[in-house]
Amino acid sequence: MVNFEPRILGFLCNWCSYAGADLAGVSRIQYPPNMRVIRVMCSGRVDPKFIFEGLLQGLDGIFIMGCHIGDCHYLEGNYEAEKKFHMVKKFLEFIGMQNRVRLDWVSASEGARFGELVLEFVNHIKSLGPSPLSGVDKDKSLEFKLKAIERAAGTSRIRALVGRERKITEFENVYGEKYPMDKFEGLFNEAIRDEFIRASILLFLEKEPQSIKNLALQLNIDSSEVLENIVVLKGRAQVDMSEIEGISPIYIRT
Ligand code: FES
Repeated sequence: MVNFEPRILGFLCNWCSYAGADLAGVSRIQYPPNMRVIRVMCSGRVDPKFIFEGLLQGLDGIFIMGCHIGDCHYLEGNYEAEKKFHMVKKFLEFIGMQNRVRLDWVSASEGARFGELVLEFVNHIKSLGPSPLSGVDKDKSLEFKLKAIERAAGTSRIRALVGRERKITEFENVYGEKYPMDKFEGLFNEAIRDEFIRASILLFLEKEPQSIKNLALQLNIDSSEVLENIVVLKGRAQVDMSEIEGISPIYIRT
């Protein structure tokens, strides 16, 4: 795309990557000025919500940088960042925006590497073109899905799975058992899909009360799957039946 200058947001950890960016500056290393930086104390501080919010604001790309694995000043912050990022990418795959986010490591002495990574990412985003969520003609259906993703990622089920992944898969429990990674991935994928559907149902019901058939049509899934998720949402006291129209129960957001 001609003359497209991506708007990129960078989250840089204070101790390594921000210092690396600083070194790039004092060393007069040339790199594109497309990235605006927010300094965070650790890459693990970057809540997935920050990423989804940035994309909803129409940013073309988001780059998170932290200390190299093993060098985090809070010991395990970048391991946590990796797990959160893995979840973010999985959710973004639903809407094809997974290539607009990146996580990488830059140490305080890697000013040149910082410049190279920024240049590479800017070129990559240029090749993708502007975000479909930027400008006046933003894609409303994509925006709706991203809002559902943001909500789904914040549920306690997803947060608990991300927070406990390493404990479950890398360390043994008190019985000396480890949960196999492939089994965990299966569980995780299922949770991600379920919570995405549930968050979408809630957003639809916030607009207007609806029947299961209508929800199934909008979500492009089977009515039986909508019903299963409505049952769960009812159990969480997030939806309720308001009336019966003909033979169809109508549900509302509580
Ligand atoms: S302090 Fe840099 S990643 Fe944790």
